[in-house]
Amino acid sequence: MTRRRVAILISGRGSNMVSLIEAASRPDFPAGIALVLSNRPDAAGLERAAAAGIATAVVDHKAHPTREDFEQAMEAELKAHDIAFICLAGFMRVLTDGFVERWSGRMINIHPSLLPLYRGTQTHRRALEDGVLVHGCTVHFVVPELDAGPIIAQAAVPVVPGDTADSLAARVIVQEHVLYPKALRMICDGTARLDNGRVAFTRGWNADGTLHSPG
Ligand code: GRF
Repeated sequence: MTRRRVAILISGRGSNMVSLIEAASRPDFPAGIALVLSNRPDAAGLERAAAAGIATAVVDHKAHPTREDFEQAMEAELKAHDIAFICLAGFMRVLTDGFVERWSGRMINIHPSLLPLYRGTQTHRRALEDGVLVHGCTVHFVVPELDAGPIIAQAAVPVVPGDTADSLAARVIVQEHVLYPKALRMICDGTARLDNGRVAFTRGWNADGTLHSPG
């Protein structure tokens, strides 16, 4: 098995990063986390990555005059670590079309909603305002349009009476931590790949069963 070299890009606490690092520490996982890169020197996730023995790098966007310049510095780190795939995990910088195109099919993101619903921020608050009874998270390939890339995997959770944005976020993030490693496995072992703007899957599907909420 070839273990693909993966970089995780973060800006904050890095709980998804930890779930990816943990999954990739298993010998049968088709990827190894070769780098954690943050655009913020104070991202809490950096310490957590270092504690797990992962190489870390900071490319501070504030130290670079343009977006292109910032991304060039990131590319240098990615090249130095021979990175094949990028996982965005709470990375709070918008990337240029050029960067996104260069990593097309090799860069994925996790988003806290069932896309295409609730692109952007404040997803849990907006879901509650709309009164949806099922919410969740999505892993998708990154394309230039924000949160609009082809979907690799989704997980759903119920919305229950009395939920707040925080309680809903807490329920969703548990599933993010399960879903993201699964999706990374799928792109690294070739189960899912980007093909003409769609995700092509090689594995069969189980069409039985429906998620009901309220259950
Ligand atoms: C997660 O909710 C993820 O879906 C979103 O940003 C948040 C990052 O959280 N893209 P963490 O840093 O992984 O804990």
